[in-house]
Amino acid sequence: MTKQIVLTGITTTGTPHLGNYVGAIQPAIAASHDSNVQAFYFLADYHALIKCQDPAHVHLSSREIAATWLALGLDTENAVFYRQTDVPEITELTWVLSCVTAKGLMNRSHAYKAAVADNEEKGESDPDKGITMGLFNYPILMAADILMFNANRVPVGKDQIQHIEMARDIAGRFNHIYGKTFVLPEAVVGEDSAVLSGLDGRKMSKSYNNTIPIFLPEKKFRKLIMKIKTNSLEPGQPKQTEGCTLFSIYRAFATDSQVEDVRQLYADGIAWGEMKQLLFEHLNNHFMDARKRYDELIQQPDNIENILQQGADKARSYSIPLLKQVRQAVGIKALADTG
Ligand code: TRP
Repeated sequence: MTKQIVLTGITTTGTPHLGNYVGAIQPAIAASHDSNVQAFYFLADYHALIKCQDPAHVHLSSREIAATWLALGLDTENAVFYRQTDVPEITELTWVLSCVTAKGLMNRSHAYKAAVADNEEKGESDPDKGITMGLFNYPILMAADILMFNANRVPVGKDQIQHIEMARDIAGRFNHIYGKTFVLPEAVVGEDSAVLSGLDGRKMSKSYNNTIPIFLPEKKFRKLIMKIKTNSLEPGQPKQTEGCTLFSIYRAFATDSQVEDVRQLYADGIAWGEMKQLLFEHLNNHFMDARKRYDELIQQPDNIENILQQGADKARSYSIPLLKQVRQAVGIKALADTG
């Protein structure tokens, strides 16, 4: 049986938080241990430049994200873990794909349209004000990330589904013109239960500024948990688990029987302060060993770098031959090659 190729990228802006863990990191790491799957996970550092022009932030975020995945137990023997910019074939492929991508397709990209709508709302005379070609072309770079490794399945958040459809379109277009070269990828979208609430009760997301980072020093971590918004019910009053942020976070990290016990505590009117302490202790234990590994890794960026270099070598054993095939297909090859 040929292995299913599963691939996903993580944009290197921001510090990984509990929402990322539940929605993306944990399922991806689980898949990295599955010998029926060939996983490719990478730091999408060229994507970061689209959103962030702060070099220190991009640099730090790459280090934090890599350390996070490794500390949480990514199997780098089984999964190929690399940095996008260490695989130059990806950006080369981006150009080739640009040449078969209709501009109209990019005009329809949600990310681009949202930026235009934003300008129009503000009454700007130029609807493209402040919009870079990076943002506009971003779906093509993402298509290259995916097609470069012939990925079958691409786990992503809902907001990224359109990009996978665009990658399919672009692959289909290339195959139609030059002959079958690329596999058509499919998006795999996590269940809604994998969406975690943040400090203010909205979806945990860096754009809402309501996140709880996975690896914080214990004291800071506790402080943040204590900040989670609750209603004003008093100790002793029965409380609803439905719609409660504390409960929803707890549930994402607990066994069924632990969840049942906490349901009972709610019915019995547990005080919010007590529930927060319970949640803190639970999460703190959950991440205790991983946090130790994380702190060690962060102190030794050379070790992380080595692992990423090994990953890049593996990735390039796929990307170099595929790019060669692509060039061959479009007629870019040795002058004496008439085949
Ligand atoms: N754009 C994705 C995001 O913001 C990250 C990403 C980059 C990605 N390249 C990818 C995801 C390729 C899946 C496949 O979440």
